[in-house]
Amino acid sequence: MQKILILDFGGQYDQLIARRVRELRVYCEVHPHDMPIEAIRAFDPLGIIFTGGPGSVYLPDSPKPDPAVFSLGVPVLGICYGCQLMAQMLGGEVTAAQDASAREYGRTVTRFDPTCPLFRGIGEKSVTWMSHGDYLSKVPAGFYPAARSAACPTAAICDGERRFYGVQFHPEVDHTERGREILHNFLYRICGARSEWTMADFRTRTVKALREEIGDGRALLALSGGVDSSVAAALLSESIGERLTCVFVDHGLMRKGEADEVEAVFSKRRLNFIRVDAKERFLTRLAGVSDPETKRKIIGEEFVRVFEEEARRIGGADFLVQGTIYPDVIESGKGEAAVIKSHHNVGGLPEHTDFRGIVEPLRLLFKDEVRQLGRELSLPEALVSRQPFPGPGLAIRVIGEVTEEKLAILREADAIFREEIGRAGPEVKPSQYFAALTNVRSVGVMGDGRSYDYAIALRSVKTGDFMTAEFSRLPWELLDRVSVRIVNEVRGVNRVFYDITSKPPATVEYE
Ligand code: XMP
Repeated sequence: MQKILILDFGGQYDQLIARRVRELRVYCEVHPHDMPIEAIRAFDPLGIIFTGGPGSVYLPDSPKPDPAVFSLGVPVLGICYGCQLMAQMLGGEVTAAQDASAREYGRTVTRFDPTCPLFRGIGEKSVTWMSHGDYLSKVPAGFYPAARSAACPTAAICDGERRFYGVQFHPEVDHTERGREILHNFLYRICGARSEWTMADFRTRTVKALREEIGDGRALLALSGGVDSSVAAALLSESIGERLTCVFVDHGLMRKGEADEVEAVFSKRRLNFIRVDAKERFLTRLAGVSDPETKRKIIGEEFVRVFEEEARRIGGADFLVQGTIYPDVIESGKGEAAVIKSHHNVGGLPEHTDFRGIVEPLRLLFKDEVRQLGRELSLPEALVSRQPFPGPGLAIRVIGEVTEEKLAILREADAIFREEIGRAGPEVKPSQYFAALTNVRSVGVMGDGRSYDYAIALRSVKTGDFMTAEFSRLPWELLDRVSVRIVNEVRGVNRVFYDITSKPPATVEYE
């Protein structure tokens, strides 16, 4: 299969470049900028993209690739720092902008040379997204300037002979109006890509590879009902059928109807599905505990214990399947982040294992691709398009002590909120939305009587990466409907709050 190599210079949009390339149906991988040249040759790239980065190319420690990368006869596209780097390594000059007028941050009107293959068919002028303090003061031999903005006469450079291209702006971000077409031109006109990367092909290839890898061994998968583990389960099930065992630990902290939905989907498949009803166990251990971190720790430990017990009960397995996805893999290459992510990703599975190997069939896919693959594998849409749901479940949405009574109230209120959001038009599309049960009880009046009941908090946020998030500006009518329904339909609730805090300073979840 044709592959694009993305060399990572530490830019903030690196993953986005990879996603765009994949969306354009060309397979790509992100590797560190100092990937050895032999490894690059072995990778056999159809084209190479240098990402942006925070550095300045003229500083002594600035990250650089092996210069032999320019002798491979392979097209190169440098983006922002990557553009400056290529220019400098090939004899051009990069200078720090002395006055503010030469720096560009944000939306910038840019004029393109339509004869440059990178800009064919995109019109002569449109908005691009710039973010640079350095600029290309001398274009290297063999190149010509192929785009300009008011502040920058070298917003893009082009060497059609060697097929080297550089853009000072970021074609991968949405703010660059014709960015997708520019990347499309690089991939299809310049590199000669064929449209090969589809989830149907991925499915066929991966099933074959999994059969070879696992042979006649047996695999065990911890199924949470989330998108990643569900898609991994469906893929493995297609590959090795009954030699896969999925253990679904129902900790009693799932949303309304959720555990049954997971069971309904997976018990129909040709795999060994085990639903462990561990509700009692979890609630007993959580009784009387109200500290958030203690709650999380108890749930994590208990989960591992149940999973290990079940693994022993079925006589073990050769392989453990994990739903690791590509952003985790990329992050893992970046040192510090690795610890946090892998911990998060493993989701409390035992660290020591007797397994012969770990199988991570989704490790090259982005979340959107995992969802597409799920559709390809005929998983129901409700499962495939699920919003994130935390491992500790409703326990971190019941503030304070978790009891069965509180869980029951929360489940009903949350189902109403989710139902109403689901019914709202396409303009209401939060990234995550749910109800939480506050630990607050207050006085109300219902009918002619006094009530002293709980307050429900509604949370709805818009975010791309969940590291930061903005509360959603939900329509008043929608909030009104949800509030009336919750108070009328859920016993034990007499007040509804809407959370208008963003992250930071709040977090998405309450605990
Ligand atoms: P916070 O509350 O940290 O949440 O702003 C950010 C995102 O992470 C999810 N989340 C978790 N997911 N296990 C998970 O698998 C967890 O322990 C966990 N805690 C928070 C949260 O739902 C949001 O999408």
